[in-house]
Amino acid sequence: ASAAGPYDVAIIGGGPGGYVAAIKSAQLGLKTVCIEKRGALGGTCLNVGCIPSKAMLNNSHIYHTIQHDTKNRGIDVIDVKLNLPAMLAAKETSVKALTGGIESYLFKKYGVDYIKGTASFASSSQLDVALNEGGETQVEAKNIIIATGSEVTPFPGLEIDEERIVSSTGALSLQEVPKRMIVIGGGVIGLELGSVWSRLGADVTVVEFQGAIGAGMDAEVAKNFQRILQKQGFKFKLNTKVVSGERVGDVVNLKVDAAKGGKEETLEADVVLVAIGRRPVTTGLNLDKIGVEVDSKGRVVIDDEFNTSVKGIKCIGDATFGPMLAHKAEEEGIAAIEIIKNGHGHVNYECIPSVVYTHPEVAWVGKNEEELKAAGIKYKVGKYPFAANSRAKTNQDSEGFVKHLVEAETDQILGTHIIGSAAGEMIAEATLAIEYGASAEDVARTCHAHPTLSEAFKEAALASYDKPINF
Ligand code: FAD
Ligand code: NAI
Repeated sequence: ASAAGPYDVAIIGGGPGGYVAAIKSAQLGLKTVCIEKRGALGGTCLNVGCIPSKAMLNNSHIYHTIQHDTKNRGIDVIDVKLNLPAMLAAKETSVKALTGGIESYLFKKYGVDYIKGTASFASSSQLDVALNEGGETQVEAKNIIIATGSEVTPFPGLEIDEERIVSSTGALSLQEVPKRMIVIGGGVIGLELGSVWSRLGADVTVVEFQGAIGAGMDAEVAKNFQRILQKQGFKFKLNTKVVSGERVGDVVNLKVDAAKGGKEETLEADVVLVAIGRRPVTTGLNLDKIGVEVDSKGRVVIDDEFNTSVKGIKCIGDATFGPMLAHKAEEEGIAAIEIIKNGHGHVNYECIPSVVYTHPEVAWVGKNEEELKAAGIKYKVGKYPFAANSRAKTNQDSEGFVKHLVEAETDQILGTHIIGSAAGEMIAEATLAIEYGASAEDVARTCHAHPTLSEAFKEAALASYDKPINF
């Protein structure tokens, strides 16, 4: 065993929270080490989350479009075949390029030390690291950041074998297209990965405990989204709870029950995707030994400067409070380092965008109607459909709308909700507007290029305090 350090900053976990914090830390001149056990940097997001799912979403969308949406575009396609092994390989190529780039380029460029191994606390300033290659080392640091992320929440009684009963990780690597897929949970993972396999030919049924899909998105958007997905072939069983399930050979049987006291029935599937949420990863860190407090949901308790209950130890990303999103973890990583170096750093939790990368995409930032009503805030709605947008029409891709929620008296934008093919890119404008405290009029008086989908964004803003021009 050898001792490394002392470091200014040691970061446990090399996901979007950890690796971004490590780069920022080294950029600010702090002696920095990042410890990651996976063998590759990028965490859940780059290895088994954001990046591989977007590769499969994009390529399955292209496949589906070529199959079903070319005739009216003047393209005759003679033969279309799915080559699933090649599609999975393309996904792996994207993942490897990005994770490898952090290790071989970014960490080297900025001088971050990288240890491949599993860290646990020996004391509040010392880590034991079991090295992936065998053996151990110790790391000493003035500041330690816990960025250990999250893992899938298991469904009691339904053991994930990543073959027939899969988590998102298994669902990103199925070796053949299942005939029947059941998704437990109509949240982001269920709808994105359900879309992938539905487009590739699976018959997808989503069983959702709540009365709506989308895990808390604006109710009007969720309703429209569900209708569009149903047109694409999705089946939904809402207000329905899975009671139990078992794999029998190559089939999985699920007993479901209407949540509000309905009849029990048994559903059959070739693959069941469990997507009922994720939970923080903190086991094995020895947190109890050094006195780092964890709440009843397993989240590391922090104050508004990311400090845990032990001095010198901070926590960021999925392992602590807030939405489990890569960009949220990244912002926290940067703010935590700035606090260590400069004494101040900030994340605006009122202004974190969410995107569901289906087709159409769904994206939002700020408050939704239900939240504004609950808070008793008076608001106006400015809405504009893509069916009245010239670019959407020429693209023959005009489902959805832009909806701004603006404060009744001041016109300040409080929330923006978009369902449409480029919603994920367009939400950046709303995020900037909210961050800068823009009014709807500020947006509507800003020149937007023609013909672009963004004109719908401007027209929706105009609609909130005046009349839109093209609708
Ligand atoms: P993680 O990315 O989970 O990284 C933590 C790392 O810590 C892991 O690599 C782990 O191996 C390592 N680690 C844990 N314990 C130890 C230890 N003791 N020693 C050493 N290393 C350790 N978010 C988005 O914003 N956009 C998306 O499109 C998106 N898509 C997703 C799709 C899927 C299928 C999934 C599952 C998630 C998706 N997410 C998405 C969520 C996103 O992946 C997470 O919010 C993000 O990865 C959190 O970053 P993190 O750094 O906190 O943790
Ligand atoms: P989620 O929280 O988005 O959705 C889980 C859904 O499962 C909810 O609708 C919930 O009501 C339902 N549910 C819970 N228990 C159930 C039960 N017993 N039976 C039926 N339904 C049940 O969680 P998900 O989809 O697993 O994603 C996990 C996290 O990963 C999310 O927090 C999300 O932020 C992140 N993620 C983000 C993506 C993105 O930004 N595009 C993509 C994928 C994941």
